[in-house]
Amino acid sequence: VPLEETSLPLFFGWFLLPGIQDKVRCTSMDFLKTLDTLEAFKKHLPDFTVEAEKEVDLEQYFQANGALHCTTKFCDYGKAEGAKEYADKPIVKELYGSAFELSLSALFVTPRTVGARVSLSEDQLTLWPADAEKEAVPLVPAAATLPAGSRAHITLGCAEGVEPQQTGFDLLEILALQKEGQEGELVEEMELGSLAYYGKGRWLLSLREPVSAQACFSSLYG
Ligand code: A2P
Repeated sequence: VPLEETSLPLFFGWFLLPGIQDKVRCTSMDFLKTLDTLEAFKKHLPDFTVEAEKEVDLEQYFQANGALHCTTKFCDYGKAEGAKEYADKPIVKELYGSAFELSLSALFVTPRTVGARVSLSEDQLTLWPADAEKEAVPLVPAAATLPAGSRAHITLGCAEGVEPQQTGFDLLEILALQKEGQEGELVEEMELGSLAYYGKGRWLLSLREPVSAQACFSSLYG
């Protein structure tokens, strides 16, 4: 009996190929290393951490999890709403195991998570669940007004005690602020791109050159 008939995976998503995982991790490390030395970051440190610390080592602050990926549908082995419907979609079956090029357009840091924004192409959006942004509305009300695919991201690290799904909510919050016309306070032109501050410890680095990441559309049973 094929596995897919016995149970559903923990999640479906695009899994970065090993070489590009290393590159993305290095880029993220470089960014964190630079960010916590910037005067602007130090100035806003009280927004970042509630602890009365004068400094924070961001590379220590965030814990990296397993293989880098961009979740499309979290299924929780079938317990999540819409899991079976997603797994049964013809396009999901058709593209399962196919190679894609994801475009990583920004890196962001909040007191909870560090992640990469994934800007999905129209082809890639065919694999994006219709309700991904709506599911976030209880936590991020403005997510209702954002276009499909806005939540697409790669979790690069989480602060202690924070669940990886928080990364998508943090990204949606920043995008909602952008949409409201808050451009963020332009802080610095870095080698990687422009760094903006959105308050409450939220930082967004728009990459000058988006990182193109080869990835395989697949699933994880965990
Ligand atoms: P993300 O996609 O933001 O990295 P876990 O280890 O907690 O079981 O999660 C496995 C993966 O599924 C992680 O990548 C995680 O977050 C994602 N995930 C977990 N819960 C949800 C959820 N409720 N909605 C969407 N994605 C989720």
